[in-house]
Amino acid sequence: MQGNVHHADASTFTTTTDKSQVYETAISSAVALFESQRFWATNLANTASLMWHAFDALGMHVNWAGFYVVQLRRWQKHSDADTEGDKELEGDKRGGKRTLMLGPFMGKVACQTINFGHGVCGTAAEAGRTIVVPDVEKFPGHIACDGSTKSEVVVPILDDAGAVRGVLDVDCLVLNGFDETDVQFLESLAGLIGRSCEWDL
Ligand code: SME
Repeated sequence: MQGNVHHADASTFTTTTDKSQVYETAISSAVALFESQRFWATNLANTASLMWHAFDALGMHVNWAGFYVVQLRRWQKHSDADTEGDKELEGDKRGGKRTLMLGPFMGKVACQTINFGHGVCGTAAEAGRTIVVPDVEKFPGHIACDGSTKSEVVVPILDDAGAVRGVLDVDCLVLNGFDETDVQFLESLAGLIGRSCEWDL
């Protein structure tokens, strides 16, 4: 990202069915962008763009690609998926309850907060492992931010110390929207993000 190269060019992918070509380009672009930037919001925003345009170039039917980030909160409105209203959470800010807050994304407006252990995102964050959901209707507790989503993959983002700092979430309009190559790409991106950002949340 130097000299005469426009940043927007990093989001230009040639339309193809060659996933390795598109994903290698996206990873290279992320590496180049993160070399000069460690602010989490900036890096997640550009990564959401890279994912969105990469999936579009591959003709995949991705309808949402983005992030939720972990925040420690004493007070919070209950998760969008809950109906119990506001409640006080145990602990102070330092020892407070962890909540996933909507971060940078591409796609339609989405649920703003998700509690750990709730939905695909909260389950992946709590377990600290990738969850691939071939059919969202078969995932108990799936949070339907968009009723047209059919499949989903969520990858936790870990910092250098191994703490979960957020999740990468991608939704698709077709069943079984993601294969092993897609998941490997997303896990590579999540790993790169975890190592490349300051998590001052
Ligand atoms: N479906 C997710 C909620 C986030 S949206 O997909 C953007 C879940 O069950 O956690």
